[in-house]
Amino acid sequence: MRENSAMQQNFWTKECAAPTRIVNFTGTLAGVDYRDAIICGDCLEVMRAMPEKSVHLIVTSPPYNLLNSTGNGLKKNTRCGKWANAAIKNGYQSWDDNMPYADYVAWQRACVAEMLRLLTPDGAIFYNNKNRVQAGLLQDRREIVAGFPLRQIITWKRSGAINFNAGYFLPVTEQIYLLCRRDFRLAPGANKFTDVWEIKQEMKNPHPAPYPEALIDRILQSAPGTVVLDPFAGSGTTAVCARRHGRQFILIEQSPAYCEMARQRLDGGQWRNAA
Ligand SMILES: C[S@@+](CC[C@H](N)C(=O)[O-])C[C@H]1O[C@@H](n2cnc3c(N)ncnc32)[C@H](O)[C@@H]1O
Repeated sequence: MRENSAMQQNFWTKECAAPTRIVNFTGTLAGVDYRDAIICGDCLEVMRAMPEKSVHLIVTSPPYNLLNSTGNGLKKNTRCGKWANAAIKNGYQSWDDNMPYADYVAWQRACVAEMLRLLTPDGAIFYNNKNRVQAGLLQDRREIVAGFPLRQIITWKRSGAINFNAGYFLPVTEQIYLLCRRDFRLAPGANKFTDVWEIKQEMKNPHPAPYPEALIDRILQSAPGTVVLDPFAGSGTTAVCARRHGRQFILIEQSPAYCEMARQRLDGGQWRNAA
């Protein structure tokens, strides 16, 4: 409990005494109650098993394919160079983050298409990804969202970055693509946040690539919607914030270790040692 905010503690002890469930996906969700639960499985398969128009808001950050690198730095198990201490250099528990770029784009487009199918007519997706320079040329992640209903691109300015390279300016920004159905409206007053969000990256979460809670809090302050889905849930930051904002959540994560980490985090356990 010590690691959760006072607000979360209050919510947990007073209103949410049942432990968070991990649902192991077996090919169907028929008859399964997966609201406020963590579904352990491949998100594309799981989303395909969910009914259309059943989710109001999707907040997600997929793997960035960082191990697929033409450079010298970010290689698996590297102990030298500027990335020696970056946990992400070893990929994720159940995902090596190293696809041929065209396959990565095709995979992510399939995921975004499925997310759009799940949205209610007033729903929105906040899809976070990051441009990269590879073989001297920009991999512009707008390729992933091309042709989908893109309303705006928010620039997330972090306070640091791991991809140092003498050949290009150090990128300190990521992109959040706001894809939405036509009836989606920002919460009243949220336009004041502007399209540049300066929020420090998370440093105390043992997951290799966690969201900062402040980023999700801002999204939830900006976007209404009861049911919030994160199909690449990692350590469960989206659910922690959704609960704080009185929303319901659905998490999907393929690594059993990260599912357990998220469960312990939501239930006030020693989650920082869980994976
Ligand atoms: C960038 S991390 C998300 C971190 C998360 N936002 C947090 O705050 O902890 C991406 C996550 O996607 C998961 N993942 C990779 N491929 C997946 C798949 N096919 N289905 C579900 N999860 C997947 C990885 O295990 C990793 O935890």
